[in-house]
Amino acid sequence: MSYTDHIFVDYRRRVKALEASNNPFARGVAYVEGQYVPLHEARIPLLDQGFLHSDLTYDVPAIWDGRFFRLDDHLDRFERSCAKLRLKSPLPRQEMRDRLIEMAAKSGIRDAYVMLIVTRGLRYVRQYAPEDCKNFCYLMVMPYLWVMDEETQKTGGSAVIARTVRRVPPGAIDPTVKNLQWGDLTRGLLEARDRGAMYPILTDGDANITEGSGFNVILIKDGKLHTPKKGVLEGVTRLSVLAIAEKLGYPHIIDDVPVDLAYDCDEILFVTTAGGVMPITRLDGQPVGSGDVGPISKALWKAYWDAHRDPELSFAIPYKD
Ligand SMILES: Cc1ncc(COP(=O)(O)O)c(C=O)c1O
Repeated sequence: MSYTDHIFVDYRRRVKALEASNNPFARGVAYVEGQYVPLHEARIPLLDQGFLHSDLTYDVPAIWDGRFFRLDDHLDRFERSCAKLRLKSPLPRQEMRDRLIEMAAKSGIRDAYVMLIVTRGLRYVRQYAPEDCKNFCYLMVMPYLWVMDEETQKTGGSAVIARTVRRVPPGAIDPTVKNLQWGDLTRGLLEARDRGAMYPILTDGDANITEGSGFNVILIKDGKLHTPKKGVLEGVTRLSVLAIAEKLGYPHIIDDVPVDLAYDCDEILFVTTAGGVMPITRLDGQPVGSGDVGPISKALWKAYWDAHRDPELSFAIPYKD
């Protein structure tokens, strides 16, 4: 019996039911140019600047056990990202929200990875003013994705502090705008693989940690949570985990986090919508703390998944069946 069982036993049942479904949207549904299409048939125009220049922003909320989790927090961040990049979604917020709920209901997917993307559209900002570009919106609802698989969550994953690449500086790319400039994160992932580990933590080039390939980092030392203030996406999962920790009596500090603390802490967590709370038990080939998933990690893991049923944070999707 693992500490993860109380979530995964029911989840596996739901996945089996979904796999048996003959609903054409059960493997995912996309909204492209005003149409709903099965995800794997969806296409984007080749000239979309989102594809050619990564000129876009996006966000990823999730649905868990039939309930949308913190959708409005994700939409708030998405609107802030759009404003910073001078992008304007062709779908007003309420319509986007309604469509995402409708797509989930139509698909029957109970545990979903949801993606909303606004791209610059077909015009290149070198030739046209941003206000003259007609921006495009794409929406997707697909079965939930795990940045860390179930088995690894039981024992904890392995990570490295990347040596060959640093996180892009905020003065070059604003990390608070959720973006798909993944060059540095992909280099970090490749380095992690080369060094026999699963995930990279990137530094700011100045001996502080930032974040990793699609997740925020939380270090736990003497019952206190430490997480970086600068150079990172302000993750919704991190927000949830810090609030839960506070309630459980574990305070936090959001500030510069020196790399040294990563080598000297008791527990390490990676946190993201696509995977939740992910314990890391080996860093640079050495055990983190005792080398097992620590007690605070386990408590936060459980409370995080339980929070998905909290009506203040989530609401039920009106499925037809
Ligand atoms: C670079 C980066 N940092 C952090 C996160 C975690 O953000 P959230 O918790 O809002 O999913 C993500 C999520 O994809 C990410 O891509």
